[in-house]
Amino acid sequence: LRVISGLKKMRAFSEAERAEGKTIALVPTMGALHRGHLELVKAARELAHIVILTIFVNPTQFSAEEDLDEYPRDIEADCDYANSAGVDVVFTPSAKDMYPNGFQTEVNLTELSKKLCGKYRPGHFAGVATVVLKLFNITGPHSAVFGKKDFQQLLLLRRMAMDLNVGIDIVGVPTVRESDGLALSSRNTYLSDIERRAAAALPRALNEARRLYESGERSPSVIISAVEGALRTEPLADIEYVKVVDGETLEDLDVIDRGGKNTLLQAVISIGSARLIDHVLL
Ligand code: PAF
Repeated sequence: LRVISGLKKMRAFSEAERAEGKTIALVPTMGALHRGHLELVKAARELAHIVILTIFVNPTQFSAEEDLDEYPRDIEADCDYANSAGVDVVFTPSAKDMYPNGFQTEVNLTELSKKLCGKYRPGHFAGVATVVLKLFNITGPHSAVFGKKDFQQLLLLRRMAMDLNVGIDIVGVPTVRESDGLALSSRNTYLSDIERRAAAALPRALNEARRLYESGERSPSVIISAVEGALRTEPLADIEYVKVVDGETLEDLDVIDRGGKNTLLQAVISIGSARLIDHVLL
């Protein structure tokens, strides 16, 4: 495993590999690696000769009140994990190099970034899109792999790649879950034992939505009420939102059956200091 922190070194490495005809797959992360990231690396390994995993806790996607300082960081453990997962290079740029004095450019998706989580986390998706485009430019990959768990992020990055003619394949990898259904996330480490047990309410509520849909229910408001009701049975869970939207535009829907188009039901709750996000496609 090679660990590279300098931007120029990273670019030189990728250029040399590309010059030899090697393909590169990128796995952008904020560290605190877990089994979900392992699946991203596995997918990347299938796509290219070289796998670069980036670890950068990107300050511009956190708002002032969010958990930037508390976000879990353990570079050594992450590098060990990346090494055993078969990563070739870990890229760990510094915030100073990524955002030097005078930095002022932002990639903003005018519609998608306002929807769902965008309403509750202003500036978040501009931070994500900007840093991901920077990571693309520095590491020069042929493909890049992201978790499907963050549905809106993946949709938005696909759109950005299309809109800006980025020429990199954006690949989505299925969510990895614990045995009680909780989606793996670095933020799960914030949960105490009691909170961790309470967090299973989220996948349970989404299963309830799926069950209703499969039994013929097609009204978003009925399904949303059922999900909210199921979440309210867990006293530690605070609901941020439960929404049923078009799976491409993220616009609210009045009715679910629309000739095979994807419908997204997304729910966000917080338990203690952890913000938990999950979805089901109907
Ligand atoms: O999903 C994440 O971990 C981050 O949003 C990403 C894509 C690495 C950008 O900082």
